[in-house]
Amino acid sequence: MKKILAMLLVAMLALSCTAALAEKVGVSMPTKDLQRWNQDGANMEAQLKDAGYEVDLQFASNDVKTQLDQVENMIAEGADVLVIAAIEGSSLGEALAMAKDEGIPVIAYDRLLMDSDGVSYYATFDNYMVGTVQGTYVKDALDLDNAEGPFNLEITAGDPGDNNTRYFYQGAIDVLQEYIDAGKLIVVSGQTAFDDVATPLWATETAQSRAENILSSYYADGSNVDAWLCSNDSTAQGVVAALDANYNGEWPIVTGQDCDKVNVKYMIDGKQSMSVFKDTRTLAAQVVKMVGQIIASEDVDVNDTETYNNNVIVVPSFLCEPVFADVNNYEELLIESGYYTEDDLK
Ligand code: BGC
Repeated sequence: MKKILAMLLVAMLALSCTAALAEKVGVSMPTKDLQRWNQDGANMEAQLKDAGYEVDLQFASNDVKTQLDQVENMIAEGADVLVIAAIEGSSLGEALAMAKDEGIPVIAYDRLLMDSDGVSYYATFDNYMVGTVQGTYVKDALDLDNAEGPFNLEITAGDPGDNNTRYFYQGAIDVLQEYIDAGKLIVVSGQTAFDDVATPLWATETAQSRAENILSSYYADGSNVDAWLCSNDSTAQGVVAALDANYNGEWPIVTGQDCDKVNVKYMIDGKQSMSVFKDTRTLAAQVVKMVGQIIASEDVDVNDTETYNNNVIVVPSFLCEPVFADVNNYEELLIESGYYTEDDLK
């Protein structure tokens, strides 16, 4: 009996030592309101746990102060590595300074952390390429090099506080600008400058009300808007809602990004023409790999050491490749790959 008790004690001690040894990774996500961040959070948590880490996953309700508190708590509670998708890129300076003081490496997840030297690595999808894919789609779908035109275009971009937003916008504009300059594409509202087309917090409602204003001010006479360049799916949802409610012309080309379920259904129904698939499993796997390399003091995988200057340092980055998605390839990309089930899209 004594022997069994002693063996039990040793086993329990061994277990508690293993638990104590597991490195702790704090994962801070912006919000649960958008499908993609729920998926990112879930994928990160599952893959980190599979790799043997303890995980502290928090969502910050798109509230900057909440995110700051959550990250500071993660530091106080002994996180060994932090993975942060910021609501507002430059709002976490205090927490990043704390992390740096404590020697805690920080990986910026999807969105760059700005104005701080407390960020060690950045993992994302190639943001400029996302914009290029969207712009090229509009160019090809309207056959801008051959068709006579002119065509009417409107633009809806994302949140100015998110460092990704300008890359998306610029990637698309760099493809379309020559056609705007040549008068083949006409932005009837005249709203092309980044500040005029941005959508704070990427909010669907804000994108919708701006699109409703544009439709009632410039398209009420029945003229067509031929393409609506939307930087992502949440803003495309707002634009589609406005078109549904306030528009009588021919349905335009509508772009997006993320392949959110609602938007894939729009693609199936012909309300959205394309999206950009950023497989959150790929990004999560890359970040888990980087966490492992950091913890093992190995070289960390990066493939871009020039692009992402956060105003203080150039952050070594790993850029995953975004993939074009439309009604013709969504089954292969999203269903056959196990990302969604058929039922998800009903
Ligand atoms: C992400 C996009 C997302 C947007 C809104 C961006 O930082 O890269 O995938 O659509 O935020 O959440």
